[in-house]
Amino acid sequence: MSLLPAELIRKKRRGEAHDRGEIEFLVRGFTSGEVPDYQMAAWLMAVCFRSLSSAETAWLTECMIHSGQTLEFKIPGKIAVDKHSTGGVGDKTSLIIAPLTAAAGVPVPMMAGRGLGHTGGTLDKLEAIPGFNVRLNLDAFKKLVVETGTAIIGQTKEICPADLKLYALRDVTATIDSIPLICASIMSKKLAEGVGGLVLDVKFGSGAFMKTAQEAEVLAKTLVEIGRFHGLKITAFLTSMEQPLGRFAGNSVEVQECMDILQGRTCEDGGVDFYADTRELSLRLAAAMLVLGGQAADAQTARATCEELLRSGAAWRKFREICENQGAKPGWELPRAGHEAVVTSPGSGYVAQILCEEVGLAGIELGAGRRRAEDEIDHAAGIEVLVKLGQKVEKGQPLFRLLAGRKDVFAGATARLAKSVRIGPKPPAPVPLIHAQITEQGVFYG
Ligand code: URA
Repeated sequence: MSLLPAELIRKKRRGEAHDRGEIEFLVRGFTSGEVPDYQMAAWLMAVCFRSLSSAETAWLTECMIHSGQTLEFKIPGKIAVDKHSTGGVGDKTSLIIAPLTAAAGVPVPMMAGRGLGHTGGTLDKLEAIPGFNVRLNLDAFKKLVVETGTAIIGQTKEICPADLKLYALRDVTATIDSIPLICASIMSKKLAEGVGGLVLDVKFGSGAFMKTAQEAEVLAKTLVEIGRFHGLKITAFLTSMEQPLGRFAGNSVEVQECMDILQGRTCEDGGVDFYADTRELSLRLAAAMLVLGGQAADAQTARATCEELLRSGAAWRKFREICENQGAKPGWELPRAGHEAVVTSPGSGYVAQILCEEVGLAGIELGAGRRRAEDEIDHAAGIEVLVKLGQKVEKGQPLFRLLAGRKDVFAGATARLAKSVRIGPKPPAPVPLIHAQITEQGVFYG
């Protein structure tokens, strides 16, 4: 008796459990094209409402891993380590972490993603660099990692093709924010990539897929459990996405922020360094990678090493080497937007709340992200975030500077940004950037 996709959709819609064969049928069928997008989208939506059990999630992860090839990085005396974020707004740390960690001697085979929902993607950011090639073949990728310490590519058709297709479909069908789907997506590609260690940045808050720290903790624990089951050295940080990270959200502008940080620059405005959170998070995650990679005995030593690599310019030189290795044009310059607009504060008071998802969606309106899977990105489009939570503002003070290649996109983006900030009579309680770390030993808050 053959399985029918509609039967499996109905089964999940009713909240019934699949067996391994049914999950395998769906993943195989979707990857080969026999199960069409519309049926897979319906099944994904059913999963969003009904969830998957631990066993179903484990089978989904395994089927996704085995939808393509798996890699292995055997570098004598080294442990290859990657970092993955569950997605945020202005979340650009990979561009700092890959060169920083590689400069410290940890091999970093980074397989990154494109924008997902309202969140940005490392690949889209890197493609703002003229000539930068994120589509290296696997041999070239492996060679660069072994010989130079790192390379950053997108998923290829060979590695986890199931996730490649599912990721694009979930992006445009509002089926991202499901713990089992996120777990299977992240862990399948990281396990197929062949790393020995993984640092996860699991975000929570208004700009993350997990809106609360509690939900993020469940996600992080599940990710860590799957990683450990497969023999990975793994740790997860729960980090706040209650406001955009750093000063910029977009592609070209985020690359510029990372290049500034790698060159030791700050972004002072009104007594606040707007790069401080991007720098701090990058250092914490990179330090954890050094520990997992066996390059430092503890987080403190690792942090000191990372700070020195930033200070000495070694991480910046590694960044330029990555660009050169991956085809960036000699003398490249980042694209700049031709048009700008400003969103101002409707009142005086304190920045009490930023609906960060609206900021991400405003970025999509400007052209920095995709509405449909086949959309082209305007790499120069983006948002400069001129205020941080808790900051005092006056009526009429600029809150955001919008950048785009077309003027007609400003109306929609402005409307979103105008409703994204709430000005209140007092500052909100501060939310720490790093809420907790989950390790094999347990959860450590603060
Ligand atoms: N990152 C991924 O790779 N997959 C998800 O589903 C969410 C974030």
